[in-house]
Amino acid sequence: MRTQYCGQVTESFIDQTVTVAGWVHRRRDHGGVIFIDLRDREGLVQVVVNPDTAEVFAKAERLRSECVLQITGKVIPRTEGTINPNMTTGKIEVVANELNVLSMAEPIPFQLDDKNVGEETRLKFRYIDLRRDEMQETLMLRYKVTRSMRRYLDDNNFMDIETPILTKSTPEGARDYLVPSRTHQNKFFALPQSPQLFKQLLMMSGFDRYYQITRCFRDEDLRADRQPEFTQLDIETSFMEEEAVMDLMEGLTKTIFKESIGYEFEGDFPRMPYSEAIEKYGIDRPDLRIDMQLVDVADLLQDIDFKVFAAPAKDPKGRVAALKVPGAGSMSRKDIDAYTKFVGIYGAKGLAYIKVNDLAAGIEGLQSPIVKFFPEQVMEIMKRVEAKDGDIVFFGADKAKIVNEALGALRVKIGEDLGMLNGKFKPVWVVDFPMFEADEETARMTAIHHPFTQPKATTEEILNHDNPEQMLSKAYDLVINGLEVGGGSVRIHDTSMQAAVFKMLGISDEEAQDKFGFLLNALKYGCPPHAGMAFGLDRLVMILGDIASIRDVIAFPKTQSAACLLTEAPGLVDNAQLTDLALRFRKPLRGEA
Ligand code: AMO
Ligand code: AMP
Repeated sequence: MRTQYCGQVTESFIDQTVTVAGWVHRRRDHGGVIFIDLRDREGLVQVVVNPDTAEVFAKAERLRSECVLQITGKVIPRTEGTINPNMTTGKIEVVANELNVLSMAEPIPFQLDDKNVGEETRLKFRYIDLRRDEMQETLMLRYKVTRSMRRYLDDNNFMDIETPILTKSTPEGARDYLVPSRTHQNKFFALPQSPQLFKQLLMMSGFDRYYQITRCFRDEDLRADRQPEFTQLDIETSFMEEEAVMDLMEGLTKTIFKESIGYEFEGDFPRMPYSEAIEKYGIDRPDLRIDMQLVDVADLLQDIDFKVFAAPAKDPKGRVAALKVPGAGSMSRKDIDAYTKFVGIYGAKGLAYIKVNDLAAGIEGLQSPIVKFFPEQVMEIMKRVEAKDGDIVFFGADKAKIVNEALGALRVKIGEDLGMLNGKFKPVWVVDFPMFEADEETARMTAIHHPFTQPKATTEEILNHDNPEQMLSKAYDLVINGLEVGGGSVRIHDTSMQAAVFKMLGISDEEAQDKFGFLLNALKYGCPPHAGMAFGLDRLVMILGDIASIRDVIAFPKTQSAACLLTEAPGLVDNAQLTDLALRFRKPLRGEA
């Protein structure tokens, strides 16, 4: 039906006859001559319809935006002054001598180049929204990323193997999506939160190097970088040490960036222990484009009278930290109030500050509501944060968790607000994660990665450790620009260690058998040492394309409330279907039998 893509008719086709097909992007009536910009996947081409081709002209007069046409015509050079150097097809036009309307279009709900269309409308008419340039480019980028992934992994002897979607609950820590079974009434499948257990089983079956680009399902609160249904590049290897796995994954990441957007990283990705990330950035996914760090000052403030600072300074679970913002000393009261409100979201009760006007004048040169509370310590603090005239220093004092979250987020917020982002992509491997973390409410131990991660300890040490929160694990996260793009670990491949970890997590033998019996059994019959990782494909595309919302990198995403506006899923089902599934009848809706 066509000889060329619209977007590929260049000057090399001049004097040739081409057939193109696509959507009417724009139609302009120029007193006697009609111009049509015809659009397809590859771009636009300008078509000219002259009145001397009367039949064609009559059809062209009735066209609307987004009609689908097939046009045959001769390619001619554009006249001087009408050349568009920014378009691949900008030097030519196609003079139509045949025009078939393949599909008429009703008036569309929004114009493709209208930047102010609400997201609800875009999602409801996603098939139209996806025609927009940006969406076409993003989905092409996404495809280039998966193509690059497959090529790299194929070259490195990985095998693509599928794992079940209807399965048992997997422990990634979110709520499961459940699917009722008709044939086993009152029983449910869970949709996988990841293929974690299956990929480990594949290692036990000898498949050495596995990968899969697969959907994962997590029923959790959604954010700008979270979807209930998202895609992982999931990877697992046998007989490889942590270092070798990380090297391979780093190579993969570099290949993806190079092949999809032509970006080359310099040197190796830096490594940072989890403890350092928290200490300096307040978070386990630091954005290293921003050159500011949190600095501990608690040791200087334990004995002062100002309780707000002294109490957390003395509390082993407290933290008092400073965040110096270079050159921002002229920040207004209004800005400071706004930042105080911002840290409030994270539970901070205030945001103390010192404006550094004139260091040489000592305490007199500092402008602040709090220096009066610790005049003897303040210059030492200024020295520690390396303050200079014109800086502002913020302070957080509270439980460490609150200070970390509040100042960690403030660091990024101010960095963005004040244009302090350096460099395009800043990757970092975060390593040496703690294995366990106490749940705040129940004080029960939980696994920071997942319970199949290898602790940096022996089985004996796990069972006899009196401070499990200090035990580290062989887990690693890849963070780029403050976003966790992937995470993985070396796995436990020994039954007794797996049992010890379950015990630490308060999972009884019975519960372990019930939930993960198949894995525990499999460990008994010959299990190679293995390790792996999963990349969040959606997040990777967000970073590569500099796209703020995860919904903009997925063809058919869900809304913040986990609904699909296009298909109107989730939807009600017939009572007959519920009966089949032995689920309870719902009350009939009004007007329904
Ligand atoms: P994890 O739970 O860290 O690890 O997930 C791996 C990566 O998946 C992405 N991700 C998400 N992306 C979008 N929406 C979500 N709701 C979402 N949740 C996670 C993140 C994350 O880094 N089985 C382990 C991996 C392993 O140990 O091999 C796992 O799933 O980018
Ligand atoms: P106040 O004594 O409540 O007037 O607080 C004095 C200054 O300390 C104000 O600038 C507050 O914003 C700040 N402040 C109060 N609580 C905290 C806190 N937990 N961490 C940091 N600053 C605080």
